Amino acid sequence: MDSRLQLRVQRYGWDRAASVYDRAWADPLQPAQELLLEAAELQEGERVLETACGSGLVTVDIARAVGSSGEVLATDLSDGMLERARTATVELELDPVRFERMDAGALDLPDDTFDAALCSLGLMYVPDFGAAIREFARVVRPGGRVAAVVWGERRRCGWADLFPIVDARVKTEVCPLFFQLGTGDTLEALMREAGLQQVESRRIRTTLDFPTEERALEAAFAGGPVAMAYGRFEPAVQTEVHQEYLASIEAFRAGEGYRIPGEFVAVRGKVAA
Ligand SMILES: C[S@@+](CC[C@H](N)C(=O)[O-])C[C@H]1O[C@@H](n2cnc3c(N)ncnc32)[C@H](O)[C@@H]1O
Repeated sequence: MDSRLQLRVQRYGWDRAASVYDRAWADPLQPAQELLLEAAELQEGERVLETACGSGLVTVDIARAVGSSGEVLATDLSDGMLERARTATVELELDPVRFERMDAGALDLPDDTFDAALCSLGLMYVPDFGAAIREFARVVRPGGRVAAVVWGERRRCGWADLFPIVDARVKTEVCPLFFQLGTGDTLEALMREAGLQQVESRRIRTTLDFPTEERALEAAFAGGPVAMAYGRFEPAVQTEVHQEYLASIEAFRAGEGYRIPGEFVAVRGKVAA
């Protein structure tokens, strides 16, 4: 898929996720987000860039960590997600946060501006991962940190058949390289190639709990990477992909819902001092 098309698919696919994202994903993603925050070691008063901030689930924690003497710039491609994030921080009166719509792969920001750059579960969607990591390193001051968390190995993510099920019915693959970053040491290697030092990683296995079939389907299809393709399917095809997806996660059925295995990897590197 060409990169401009990929950016449009992500932008408008995630706009569709804005109203359902927290309900579907806040709990399942929490372990990954905590792993990222631990890796980032944020301090009060720091200036932090967050890319692909989504609905603000991590933004809120970043803002609390840096406090009112700090500064947070939270960015995302999707206006719908940014609006959710803005509302969350306003409701909690977290004042160090500013929001801007921006592609994580092309930051419209000066060099050496932040103490840390964080990206939670966003890098997999950026057309050129390496370019994005170089951008994160460019805008962080010498000695500052770049930290990202991504999904882990495909075979450890029980929901992974979602992509081939949707791809079988569309012309171009919706997220061709999704699991590449979480495979082996790909993300660590890209951080080193971007000039980052003292690169460290932690990998965790988790369980994604969806209390009902409806919630599992909503999490998979309603918004995000496959949402644009799914939204164009006829109702009969939507029913067909639901059935195929539920069959693919049948092994993880637990009562009315599902407990699906997942894996995440968080990597942190430092900009040379
Ligand atoms: C799975 S959500 C993660 C949101 C949030 N960081 C979290 O941990 O809950 C992925 C986010 O990446 C954003 N995204 C996708 N491609 C992007 C890009 N090229 N630049 C910036 N954000 C992007 C989407 O709009 C979406 O909000």
